[in-house]
Amino acid sequence: MSAQPTAAQSARAAARRPSVLILDDEEIVLESLKDTLRESCVVAATLSPREALEWLAARPYDILLSDIMMEEMDGLEVIRRARVLQPELTAIVVTGYGTLEVAVAALREGVWDFLEKPLLPDVVVQTVARAWRMRRAEIENRRLVEELKMRNEELLRLGEVARLQQEQQLFQASRMVSLGTLVAGVAHEINNPNNFIMLNAPFLREVWQVVKPMADARAAEQGDFPIAGQPYTRVREEIALLFNDVIEGARRIKHIVDELRSYAGRDPSDYKCLTEINAVVASAVALVAKNIKSATANFSVSYGDNLPKLYADAQRLEQVVINLVQNSCQALTSRDRAIEVSTRYDGQGRNLEIRVRDEGVGIPPENLSRLTDPFFTTKRDAGGTGLGLSVSATIVKNHGGTLEFISEPGRGTTVLVNLPISKLPPAS
Ligand SMILES: Nc1ncnc2c1ncn2[C@@H]1O[C@H](COP(=O)(O)OP(=O)(O)OP(=O)(O)O)[C@@H](O)[C@H]1O
Ligand SMILES: [Mg+2]
Repeated sequence: MSAQPTAAQSARAAARRPSVLILDDEEIVLESLKDTLRESCVVAATLSPREALEWLAARPYDILLSDIMMEEMDGLEVIRRARVLQPELTAIVVTGYGTLEVAVAALREGVWDFLEKPLLPDVVVQTVARAWRMRRAEIENRRLVEELKMRNEELLRLGEVARLQQEQQLFQASRMVSLGTLVAGVAHEINNPNNFIMLNAPFLREVWQVVKPMADARAAEQGDFPIAGQPYTRVREEIALLFNDVIEGARRIKHIVDELRSYAGRDPSDYKCLTEINAVVASAVALVAKNIKSATANFSVSYGDNLPKLYADAQRLEQVVINLVQNSCQALTSRDRAIEVSTRYDGQGRNLEIRVRDEGVGIPPENLSRLTDPFFTTKRDAGGTGLGLSVSATIVKNHGGTLEFISEPGRGTTVLVNLPISKLPPAS
């Protein structure tokens, strides 16, 4: 017999008639009990205690109705053994003499109720019905307890998941902090040697401009000669390009270093200027006008009316808008696709919002959580550094705001920059 009733078992118990095993070694009593209960119960009846125990070993019953005084075996003994076989069984004793002693002994065996001879049919039916109601309530209770246990386990499990998530977030946060420190250090280390390159490469290029006619003259007079293992006439063509590559490469390194520094938040910054967000957007759009023009024929900006000013670092915010618009330009697959930039004021939440929407390729859901990780890019081959959004996110965060991405792969992306307005300049 299952110790953990399911809802289905419980529902079945409510719907069915109880199975009752009747044991009495007096045939007349047995027959009369059978007749009385035939209608409301599924009845099995026997004169023999041994047979009753055999049946109890073979299949479950709801209720055992047993005589006490029997020749073959004492009724209470039968009940004791029966409850070993079926701990859930509800036992009712039938007794010819209701002494206190018998009652106490019966209660000790866990007997539920008594029926006294002579047996009155109504009383028998009512007693069995009461026992069955109790039995069903027990089944239902156990089911509820089981259900609560399961719910509790589920809650504990959910609690555990929440704890793990929190741990993960803390881990992520500490990772970002140490990454910031590392990044600032690395940026500094790279910056110094890169400055040598940036300063010296143009000088070397100038030197080459002076030396080149001399080498040309020599080649004209004496014929081609080798330089670094290659004929001068070939090297001559390449050197100018090589200088350009070196200078361009150094510029790119400088750009990355600058981005890393603002990501790491190591650059001094001024958040205290009262700034007009529309002016920021206009200036950003003007700065990337060329990119916009080559990416789309459908560009629009709508400036919200009567926007309050906010304390901000205008140049940094401009950088955010530039990064977002550039990403949108790079996401478009044809010039028909649109980009929309807009600003508005959410008077209730006291937030300024800059919205950049594009009809580009969109962002796969699995990438959403990584967009603002430094160096996350899907454009490495096209020269993407993966720093644009990490820098932007840092800037927005430093303004107390949030950066939100909503994207539908294949259809486009909307980025929302939310900036809270405060009446007072932030404490430095
Ligand atoms: N509007 C957008 N539409 C589709 N994908 C986007 C969009 N904006 C960002 N992404 C995705 O997020 C990635 C990271 O953007 P992020 O600006 O940080 O770096 P990047 O554009 O790859 O390189 P860069 O450092 O030059 O800006 C992009 O590579 C791209 O996959
Ligand atoms: Mg970018």
